Amino acid sequence: MIVLGIESSCDETAAAVIQQGDTGLKMLSNVVATSMDKHAVYGGIVPEVAARSHIEYMNPVLEQTISEAFPGLSRQAGWQKIDAIAVTEGPGLGGSLLVGVSAARTLSITQNKPLYAINHVHAHPFAAFITEAAMKDYDLPSFAPKFPMLSLIVSGGHTQLVLFGSAFDYRVLGRTHDDAIGEAFDKVAKIIGLPYPGGPSISKAALSGSSDKYHFPTPKPAGVYDFSYSGLKTAVLRTAQKLIGEDHRFPSGSIKNRLSEAQVNDIAASFQKTAINIVVDKTMKAYYEFSPRSVVIAGGVAANHELRGQLESQLDIQPFYPDIKLCTDNAAMIATLGVLKINANLSKADPNKLEISPSLSM
Ligand code: KG4
Ligand code: ZN
Repeated sequence: MIVLGIESSCDETAAAVIQQGDTGLKMLSNVVATSMDKHAVYGGIVPEVAARSHIEYMNPVLEQTISEAFPGLSRQAGWQKIDAIAVTEGPGLGGSLLVGVSAARTLSITQNKPLYAINHVHAHPFAAFITEAAMKDYDLPSFAPKFPMLSLIVSGGHTQLVLFGSAFDYRVLGRTHDDAIGEAFDKVAKIIGLPYPGGPSISKAALSGSSDKYHFPTPKPAGVYDFSYSGLKTAVLRTAQKLIGEDHRFPSGSIKNRLSEAQVNDIAASFQKTAINIVVDKTMKAYYEFSPRSVVIAGGVAANHELRGQLESQLDIQPFYPDIKLCTDNAAMIATLGVLKINANLSKADPNKLEISPSLSM
């Protein structure tokens, strides 16, 4: 079985082809075009800019995805190899989702392929199920995670712990009730003057800073597995205001020019340590409570080295992390969950009716 995945929920326009073989799931192609550079100047994603970029990139990305998946075949011969289309229906930015869903619906009708609607957050950990690739530059596991699987999904929009009995039988143990962890990295980076996206730039600055320099409080949300990151972001803001001799009324956008490089590095390291400790502590607590057979860390923040290091030293099994290129948004994870949805005999979407679901939850 061969499935084409399409993803456009945020600032990545992506398509990928996944083949289910006797030995596992093989990635035949994986194309991502990002509009991140266009947002960097604003320090965060601008929805209208993202949607316009999806319109510009979608067709070239699809063409490239099909031609790379089936080298030597004509466009139409390539399309004949595709058995189904899987598309992100939500959650995400409305205008962005609309471009991917419209493309998928149109292709489903014109190429006569069944259509499957996929939840983006649900798909993130399934990138770890890809064990083979036609391309060389991917670091993939040699076997897929086993169920029950504990998954920590950490991205710019989501922070949640999910216990999967199987791919479609799961329990959300907890989630964030305000900011996501990646969003906290992005907002803190903006305050201290580091470039967007904040995750990689904070990690880099943290290498030259001291993580014990500042002590930020750890939030205590209601549920044991719930998360909260807005208080941490505010604590960083207050510390930065104090460092430059100003009070809480001082505008956050004007702080960066008055911090020294050493102060920026120390804030980055101290913030990163606190932010990562929070997710690691809850993951370990769930690991001991539920004794899963595998642990998968997924989403853009799974690229973080502090997170990987802390978990590896605390868990007594080796956690799975998708390859960095499969941690951030991609369509290979969407196609993978599409394959599993077909295997589980779950219902197709109607290509004449499928609507976007910007606030879809798991
Ligand atoms: O999964 P993703 O690509 O998009 C969403 O679905 O949100 O995640 C993007 C997020 C951004 O907030 C970015 O700052 C964060 O992942 N991120 C990181 C790192 N690389 C990306 N956060 C911490 N450390 C990193 N190395
Ligand atoms: Zn994502």
